[in-house]
Amino acid sequence: EQINKGKYEHYMQKEIHEQPESLTTTMRGRLLLGGTSKAKGVLLGGLKDHLKKIRRSRRIVFIGCGTSYNAALAARSLVEELSGIPVTMEIASDLVDRQGPIYREDTVVFVSQSGETADTLQALDYALENDALCVGITNTVGSAIARRTHCGVHINAGCEIGVASTKAYTSQIVVMVMLALAIGDDTISSKVRREAIIDGLFDLPSKAKEVLKLDQEMEDLAQLLIAEQSLLVFGRGYNYATALEGALKVKEVALMHSEGILAGEMKHGPLALVDETLPIVVIATRDTCFSKQQSVIQQLHARKGRLIVMCTEGDAESVCAGGSCRVIEVPQVEDCLQPVINVIPLQLLAYHLTVLRGYNVDQPRNLAKSVTTQ
Ligand code: G6P
Repeated sequence: EQINKGKYEHYMQKEIHEQPESLTTTMRGRLLLGGTSKAKGVLLGGLKDHLKKIRRSRRIVFIGCGTSYNAALAARSLVEELSGIPVTMEIASDLVDRQGPIYREDTVVFVSQSGETADTLQALDYALENDALCVGITNTVGSAIARRTHCGVHINAGCEIGVASTKAYTSQIVVMVMLALAIGDDTISSKVRREAIIDGLFDLPSKAKEVLKLDQEMEDLAQLLIAEQSLLVFGRGYNYATALEGALKVKEVALMHSEGILAGEMKHGPLALVDETLPIVVIATRDTCFSKQQSVIQQLHARKGRLIVMCTEGDAESVCAGGSCRVIEVPQVEDCLQPVINVIPLQLLAYHLTVLRGYNVDQPRNLAKSVTTQ
């Protein structure tokens, strides 16, 4: 506990508010601005000798547990889009339980804040035995995952003390976005998209600062939800991961049942839960899934669902047309970076719910920062 909390009451609160800075340190020295003759790009020193091999791999496998798994999920589709390589997702323990197939033509990316999670390490041993190229993405220099992988990237988010991961999550996403840019081909057809993402990365810390202004609003919302038994979070596309991660935060620290739901699966079960009392957060920020999310909102309205809609600034009125709902308006960024912004109000909500419900914020019961046993 040498790192003090400064003006904050809890480490989790401090780490949430630190995100504009932690995102900046994650990107420091890694983004190439581009000039008259130079292309904009990224530089990930820890990968440079392995990029050719990664580009040639038949498949990329992301492996992690908890929040680290969710971060990888948030970046999955961008890695597929820019690299053209299929990406599969594995929860570390499940891969080991199944002894699922891993091939020497695979690049396996291990995502872990601590770099010491036992399940992730076991999956790493398994991938090494199967001769895959192993890449580590951790926040801890010298950790077991950093040492035992062939190459990797440190997220440089700074020490995270709160058991519930917050700033490491957003930095992990940013590193995987940079990874997608590094392995993706720098072709003419992808130039505009790549440059928009790089510009978006430059702006991300200031957008994170902007979204943190929702702190009071999230405290008010927490006050409203303080006595609830359950909270659902609906997302899809880039923000399915946000739904899972937002629900995980609420579950971990506020000790409230919460579930992240892929909105596309709504009619296959979750819809049965909808009534006038169960609070439901619907993430409906602008991207290619927006119109589908609008239709989800209409269907939830039709069943008198109690909705809290997260939308892009300026969309509040249109997004709730046809019913009543509470709105969380967030700044718009490039679609693949939106999960970094969208998770922040949910982190704040989980934090305030925990304080108001009187639970331990930094050390939730039964949980550990790093799970080093199986
Ligand atoms: C524990 C922590 C979580 C974390 C998970 C994975 O469950 O409480 O916050 O997401 O482990 O940890 P790692 O260090 O591998 O990211």
